[in-house]
Amino acid sequence: KQGVFTYDPAFTATCSCDSDITFIDGEAGKLMYRGYSVEQLAEHSSYLEVCYLLLNGELPSADEMEAFRDAITHHTMINQSLVKFYDGFHYDAHPMAIMTGITGSLSAFYHDTTDVRDPEHRKIFAHRMIAKMPTIAAAAFKHSVGQPKIGPKNDLDYTSNLLRMMFAVPAEEYEVDPVAAKALDVLFMLHADHEQNASTSTVRMAGSTGANPYAALSTGIAALWGPAHGGANEAVLNMLAEIGDASQVPKYLEKAKDKNDPFKLMGFGHRVYKNFDPRAKVIRGYCHQVLEHYNMQNNKLFELALELERVALEDEYFVERKLYPNVDFYSGIIYQALGIPVNMFTPMFAIARTVGWAAHWCEMMADPKMRIARPRQVYTGYDLRDYVDIDKRG
Ligand code: SDX
Repeated sequence: KQGVFTYDPAFTATCSCDSDITFIDGEAGKLMYRGYSVEQLAEHSSYLEVCYLLLNGELPSADEMEAFRDAITHHTMINQSLVKFYDGFHYDAHPMAIMTGITGSLSAFYHDTTDVRDPEHRKIFAHRMIAKMPTIAAAAFKHSVGQPKIGPKNDLDYTSNLLRMMFAVPAEEYEVDPVAAKALDVLFMLHADHEQNASTSTVRMAGSTGANPYAALSTGIAALWGPAHGGANEAVLNMLAEIGDASQVPKYLEKAKDKNDPFKLMGFGHRVYKNFDPRAKVIRGYCHQVLEHYNMQNNKLFELALELERVALEDEYFVERKLYPNVDFYSGIIYQALGIPVNMFTPMFAIARTVGWAAHWCEMMADPKMRIARPRQVYTGYDLRDYVDIDKRG
């Protein structure tokens, strides 16, 4: 190729944005939602309260929380004609494919009644999607196992509703395990937002054109699905199953270091964290509690994950490159203990991250100075050249 044009560092200005929502200190391994540390929120708050915080900027009063919970509860159902869409998917379609399609199709339902310039419409969009994502995901799971879809119950909390919609069957009563509901609630708080990650940036980019927000949100689900992003939680469990036991750890670490080998240590490394991902620390701690509750203390995969972390964090390659476990490394251990199948791990991430996508979209659309996203490039192609007739080409 001909000469490469000089790199203009100023163009990075077109690839960044201002936001008040989430702050990450990658070197220190710190993560805050609207100024509150995720560690404190995970210990004291709830996923729906974190949703209110991310959307509104402040923790709610008791009355505000009651009204917010009520608003979410009354948006959990999906239109029955939308349920028919599931029949168009083959039974073994990946649930993330189904969620991308179903969420995108909501734009057809709400297109005429959503004015992106109207703050009330933006709020209803956010409430609808926070409320409906568990129903959409649970229906995708039921479709994959050939069971009747179960609708939401208004007297259940957010994660209890999800577990019941996934695991209840008409033939018998289903009792939600409060430990499982709490574990999911903590995981959802930790996955709720993460600044300008790939899927959130995708939603912002799509939304910056003025596109329908339901369609924009579906682009976030698609981006999250990738194994380098939210799809890593599923990939970690598959990797642990492939490694099998601790004796194989050295062999797989060598594979991860070999540039000619496509194998990467899934759940390790991060674009921003060059220290421990604070979410991974909380989830690792929670693994112990959940596994003990289900009498799975000697869970082979968890023991293998702990050994993998120990050996990797003593290995020069990982230490030099500041590669630490990220949010996806331990989350699958908990999902599996709750009986959630591996292909539903990333849908869990998508449910939790819906509030982050919606909060960033609302923040962007409320900005009167908002402009269409238009990343620049460094051109490395040919200089100008003349056309050559086909009979004169080499
Ligand atoms: C999420 O952005 C977000 O905020 C995302 C997220 C969120 O909440 O939204 O935090 C969620 O997506 C977490 C990441 C989940 N993905 C994985 O766990 C997949 C495995 N990780 C890697 O694919 C990788 O670490 C990435 C994709 C996460 C980051 O890729 P980068 O930016 O290329 O990593 P880097 O620049 O820090 O890499 C530095 C070096 C490179 O080698 P050298 O060129 O220096 O020789 O480390 C190597 C990389 O090849 N490296 C790895 C590795 N991750 C980076 N080598 C082996 N195994 C790995 N996992």
